[in-house]
Amino acid sequence: MLETVRGPRQLIVGEGVAQNIPRVVAESGSRVLIVTDQVLLGQPGVAEIVAAVREKVEVVAVFSDATSDVPLTDVALAVSVAAEVDADVILAIGGGTVIDLAKIVGVIRRHGGTPRDYYGESKVPGPTIPLVAVPTTSGTGSELTPVSVLTDPDRELKVGVSSVHIVPDFAIVDPELTYTCPATVTAHSGIDAFCHAVESYTARPRPHGPRDPVEQVFLGRNAITDHYALLAAERIARSLRRAVRDGGDTDARADMSYGSMLAGLAFSHAGNAAPHALQYPIGAATHTPHGLGVGLLLPYALDAARDAIGDRLAILAGVCGLDVTDASDAEAADTFLTWLDGLLADIGIPPTLADIGVARADLPRFAEMASGVTRLIQNHPGPTDTASLTAILEAAWTGDRTRHVPTPSRAG
Ligand SMILES: [Fe+2]
Repeated sequence: MLETVRGPRQLIVGEGVAQNIPRVVAESGSRVLIVTDQVLLGQPGVAEIVAAVREKVEVVAVFSDATSDVPLTDVALAVSVAAEVDADVILAIGGGTVIDLAKIVGVIRRHGGTPRDYYGESKVPGPTIPLVAVPTTSGTGSELTPVSVLTDPDRELKVGVSSVHIVPDFAIVDPELTYTCPATVTAHSGIDAFCHAVESYTARPRPHGPRDPVEQVFLGRNAITDHYALLAAERIARSLRRAVRDGGDTDARADMSYGSMLAGLAFSHAGNAAPHALQYPIGAATHTPHGLGVGLLLPYALDAARDAIGDRLAILAGVCGLDVTDASDAEAADTFLTWLDGLLADIGIPPTLADIGVARADLPRFAEMASGVTRLIQNHPGPTDTASLTAILEAAWTGDRTRHVPTPSRAG
């Protein structure tokens, strides 16, 4: 037996909990760098938080120029703003981009150097300055994960910094801050969270030595991550459509906030798998959002591994509220995959890679690139050789959806 649990010192979720932010920040430091973006800063909810923090904390600097995908130029700018006020605590208010940016700024504030010094797993040498993370979307789970994803102009693919030391110290998850999140962002971030839950729940379990939980960040599934993943899948399955259709559906928003948080807890240990690895080159080539790409790829990756995970897909069917009482595992897995196709269509995820402008000739190259993202691809429960990954992309390109139809041999 070998398990590990990671997470913030305190994780708070619920309507209205944002009012705790000024106190939590003030108790963590006296010179705060607030990281956010221009759109959010213009919204009353975020502007109120910034004003309240100004009343409570001695020195406040605001970096509100965060752009999408955390380019290194943003990191350099935010680090210099932090240095101007000698920041000793960071408050990040925003989506995954903003929180990922704040994480790497915290690393450089404490340890110096540049982001390139920390690419990969477990390269951050120790704790950073305290980070209070406040998500305004329901998706990435960045408010509690050990991961920061950056864009380096010298690298074709995005780069990841993964370390237990960049798990935020406090995660304050207030669904009210997501009420103004546009439908498209709700769809993309929400399906990203669902992928985190399902990829964690179906991640390949791996044997571990006693040093692995410190040397590696993603460890494959275990009993604890299964628990979080199923709770997450249940909430997201019942509420994602509703949150996309009606942003003012407060029950659906609460489910999505809680669900994305739980999914983050699951993948913080288990890790994500093939959809996330394959999305890296596809996102880079098509400039499509992360959530759109991983959502599109999820059913194809699951289908390719169904021999290994049929029983797990059957459990997911039940958790997602599908009637599979009298079904065999194979039938229930089909039911789940067919339901997933419907969910993706309803929230506007294109069904094929051809639809988002991927050239078929590029698929083997993309598979090759994805196979190099070891920390993710090793979690895929099916075969991970380049030919097998290319086959997943081929199915996703052509939109081969016949696989979900139960055949007599499968159903028998
Ligand atoms: Fe993701």
